[in-house]
Amino acid sequence: MSNAVENEDAALPVGLPPARWESASRLTKAYWLARLALARSSGASRPLRQLVAGADDATWYWLVSHAPRRFAVARALLPMAPDEATQTRFVGTSGDAAFRQAFTGYSLFKEMAAKYGRPLAPDSKVLDFGCGWGRIIRFFLREVDDANLVGADCMPAAIELCRQTNRRCRFELTPALPPTDLPASSFDLIYLYSVFSHLSEAAHQRWLTEFHRLLKPGGILVATTRARDFIEQCERYRRGQDGGYEAMKSAFLDQGDWLARYDRGEFCYEGTGGGDNLEGNFYGEACIPAQYVRTRWSDRFEFREFVPREQSRLDQHAIVVQKG
Ligand SMILES: C[S@@+](CC[C@H](N)C(=O)[O-])C[C@H]1O[C@@H](n2cnc3c(N)ncnc32)[C@H](O)[C@@H]1O
Repeated sequence: MSNAVENEDAALPVGLPPARWESASRLTKAYWLARLALARSSGASRPLRQLVAGADDATWYWLVSHAPRRFAVARALLPMAPDEATQTRFVGTSGDAAFRQAFTGYSLFKEMAAKYGRPLAPDSKVLDFGCGWGRIIRFFLREVDDANLVGADCMPAAIELCRQTNRRCRFELTPALPPTDLPASSFDLIYLYSVFSHLSEAAHQRWLTEFHRLLKPGGILVATTRARDFIEQCERYRRGQDGGYEAMKSAFLDQGDWLARYDRGEFCYEGTGGGDNLEGNFYGEACIPAQYVRTRWSDRFEFREFVPREQSRLDQHAIVVQKG
């Protein structure tokens, strides 16, 4: 599994100041802990959404990322995280950095759903595909009923971890290639964070067809992808300049050729494998140019936008499409 990870040492691109949601006041924290304690003492089991209604972004970020690490009452009601080494194995970072990235992703996915006519509501159905240890889907518990949040991953260890640490959302072990047993036309929003950054062209095309089947009419698909400079980054890893994982060091060896392919709008992929059951015939390192999406996804989806990472504060670009 060690290659099923990212290369970020920091969650935010260099130079970005902390977001405004990163600082809840002490008074606010005390107030929300008291609210959780009251809810817990009442003993009633309700969707988390009802307990945290009214929490602003700063409070919600703190409740999900920090509070369970420090307060028993938060641990009793909110999802937990696995140990830091396990977090890092999945996403190359842990703790605050991993949560900050997760919250940034959640904010973008939610914003795109609203922008294209699917604002999240308690009965919205959301699928986190390639959920890893489940750091992102938990943030949707503020808007959506617990039962409507689904995480899927093809790695048994990931699903096991998610089920152990998060009893509110549902987690499904899915095959490495489609189809899944999930019902057709059932999701309003499907998102993939750093999953299409790893799948082969053939695998990602098959999953696109499956996502089309799973989305409701008008449903939104958001998938992140590596930027062009990841190809150059792999060369720096090879020279030992920036760290990086073994799989990345063996990817995109002829840098000039791969950059030219990217610029021609071709799908760029090296099947390095990712450890565990992530085999090189479908899993490796991938960069998908916007031009490719416009031409090769358009038989199934309406193209909405390509969100540059500088705009979203994520470390990857995001592709947004919609089922007609
Ligand atoms: C780099 S991790 C990202 C995890 C998660 N999205 C996050 O950002 O925290 C990639 C994840 O995609 C999963 N994955 C890779 N190929 C998959 C496939 N074909 N089907 C489902 N999950 C897949 C891996 O098991 C791993 O958990």
